[in-house]
Order: sequence, then C-alpha cells, then structure tokens
Amino acid sequence: MEKVLVVGNGAREHVIAETIARSPQEPKVFAFMKARNPGIVRVAAGFSIGDITDPKMVVGYAKETGADLAVVGPENPLGAGVVDALEDAGISCASPLREAARIETSKLFARSVMDKYRIPGNNTWRAFEDPDEAERFIDSLNERVVIKPVGLTGGKGVKVVNSALVGQLKDLDEAKDYARKVIEEKIGGQGRVLVEKYLSGQEFTLQAFVDGEHVIPTPVVQDNKFAYEGDTGPFTGSMGSFSDSNHLLPFMTATDYFRALDVMKRVVDALRNEGFRYKGVLYGGFILTSEGPKILEFNARWGDPEAMNVLPLLKDDFLEICWAMAEGALSGVSADFEDKATVCKYIAPEGYPTNPVKGERIVLGDLESTGALIHFASVDERDGEIYMSSSRALACTGIADTMADAERMAEEAAARVKGRVFYRRDIGRQELLRRRTEQMRRIRRG
Ligand code: GLY
Repeated sequence: MEKVLVVGNGAREHVIAETIARSPQEPKVFAFMKARNPGIVRVAAGFSIGDITDPKMVVGYAKETGADLAVVGPENPLGAGVVDALEDAGISCASPLREAARIETSKLFARSVMDKYRIPGNNTWRAFEDPDEAERFIDSLNERVVIKPVGLTGGKGVKVVNSALVGQLKDLDEAKDYARKVIEEKIGGQGRVLVEKYLSGQEFTLQAFVDGEHVIPTPVVQDNKFAYEGDTGPFTGSMGSFSDSNHLLPFMTATDYFRALDVMKRVVDALRNEGFRYKGVLYGGFILTSEGPKILEFNARWGDPEAMNVLPLLKDDFLEICWAMAEGALSGVSADFEDKATVCKYIAPEGYPTNPVKGERIVLGDLESTGALIHFASVDERDGEIYMSSSRALACTGIADTMADAERMAEEAAARVKGRVFYRRDIGRQELLRRRTEQMRRIRRG
C-alpha cells in the first residue's frame, strides 16, 4: 500500500490530504504539521507535530511512516530545503526542490527569469539594495507603484500606493519610506526590495500540474484578499475564492486564458534551461490588464484557498498525478475536472488580520447538510470543541452547476458557524461578479 506524507496543516493541506486519500489505490496518508488540524487528523492514518521547516524533523517522520511520496503544502518548508532533504533520503516529492522553488521564494529570481527568456507578461520592475537608488527609480516612474520585499513575507509584505486601502501606502513619499524600511529592516529576510509599476485589472490564479516539462492546467480561480465586503479593509491571507463551471472567469476570454497558460509553459521551459526541473504545482498569480495577462507573482505550490476550488473537482486519481509530477511522467496521465462552479468562503476571527480575537470557541452547527465542503485551517480541537487561533479558522466551499448555487451553498454553511467570527458574504455573488466584469470592460476599452 502506498504511503504518502503531506507537510503542512492549513485548509489547503486538508484538501490535499483528502484528495490523495480518495485515490482508488487506497493510500495511507500521514501528516507532518506545526499544529493539529482536526480535519487532517480525521483523514490521516497518522500524524506528528513539529517544525515543518526543519528538514531533519520532517525526514525523521517520513522515515518512521515509511512514506514513498511526499507533498509539501506551504512555501516556507520549500525555501528551507525540506524537499531536498526528503529526496536525499530516497522519498519522492510532488513539490519542487529549493532551487526551483525560488520562482516563489525570490521575486527577483522570478522577474529576472521572465526578462532573460523574454517571457510575455512581465511588469516594469527593478530591484534595489540601496534605498537612495530605489527613491530615484520611484521618482523617475512618477506613477502608482507596488513595493515588494524580494523574499517571503507570508503575503503581508507587498504594499501598494493607494490611499483608499487600510495598511497601504498613501503616496509616493510613503512608498519611498517603505522601500527604505524593507531594505534596512531586511523585511523578507534579504535586505532587497522590488519596485514595480502598479497594474490595473482583474486578478486571477492559474494553477498547473508540472513535471519539469509538461504543464497540465487546472480551472482558473479568483482569490479575494481584502478583509471586508466591497473589497475594503486590509489585505488578508485571503477571505475566499471562486471559479466557474467553464473553468474560466466571467471577465476573461479564452484568448486571455491561453496567453496565461503560455506564460506558465515558457517559465517551466526557462527553468529547465537554467538547469532546474520544476515539478509540483506551479501557481501563476496573474492580473488581466488592457494589454492582456501579466504576472503578479508565482508560487511554487497550491494556492490557499485556490486548492479548495480545484481539487474537489478533479475526476482523475490525484495520487497518480502526484507520482507523475514527481517522476516526470505527466504526459501519460489525464487530469480532468468536473464542469462545476465553486465558491469558497473563509471564516475568520473577529478583528482578523490586524487585531484578531484569540482562542475563541466556535460552534459549527450542522454544516454537513448544506452540502458544502468544510476544510479546517487554524483551529484546535479540545474535548470535542473547536477553538480558533488568531488566523482563519475554516473554509466553506460550495460546488454546483452555477456560481449562484455554489455561492448559496457556501453562504449557508458559513452562516451556521457561530462565535466571534466574520466572513465575506459578497464572495461569488452576482453583484461582485458584475462589478468585476464591468471594471474589466472599462479597462479593455482604455
Ligand atoms: N491565495 C494566495 C496564495 O496562496 O498565496
């Protein structure tokens, strides 16, 4: 019997573990987590709690379980060399080695590879170690900019010049100050900052299975990162996401989609040319602009929550696909998805992300009868009760023939979660979709 280790403990890893577990090969799933996720515990044959960024600890548990294959969920273990250590110990991985994962862990590397190979969809950008030079570049652009630490910040380091958004930069002077701070305080761990032009448009996520050469796309998703309805409040890890039954989004055309897929394929080819076989899921974070899709960022893993929109729709054997990614054999497998729409709503503690309540009990009520899928994130289960930490607690995903029905299903489940929580009712609703489509129409008209 196959034994598969999943590293990580969020809702994303919950859905990864669940999708592997439903393989007809009936594998045993083990989990190595930094905190006990009750959803993963229910799916797993065994689990261990420890530092997921410590290669020795992860390899130790992988050996103890006899795992043949591993999937690493979050980015930090990828950057810490956990995949490299697992493979050195003879355990195959459906996730990239540290060098290839730099497509996520170094925004400078990602932008440079795109420039070097003239891959379409790059932005105007420059990287700086000297704050004065960064200032001069910001002055020379003299338009809205985005300031990004080069290294990982868990999605919390990117700041946009836009006075309307909480926690963002009011004007170019604040942008210069923040660029200096990123360099001087080594935000992202590298003392380097990327300054990019601000791009207007609609964001979308294209995730693909990759085996170093072949790229198999999965349905396109839109992530919603603002805390409150109407896209207001601070940026969060995400408050939810949606996808449509035709695997596109209401504001995008098939041409937009194929251009984005082409970018992904060219990046995989470029990495191979640079000597890195990229294997695992590649996440393209795009923005659809008047000039077509442009890259905001790559991730070397599934998105959270985008994994919840995509994996439940997979008709084929995920375990087989994971092996094919690990072994460079994707050309021989199929990866088909149900023609269904999905809407995922995250339940978060009141005050998240800036000043969340901590350790509060939540009561889930009868979520099962809504038909929505429930994936746990930052919660703890004690004496049969569920307690939140200070981050998002659980994701409710509706799946149906139409986005309207999927939204109703997710909403019904989300509304049944009682406690000091909030969520965005507007995610996946017709009003929000209309606004997105109208904005895109205006941008295309120029
Ligand atoms: N949904 C954004 C991410 O996973 O990074």
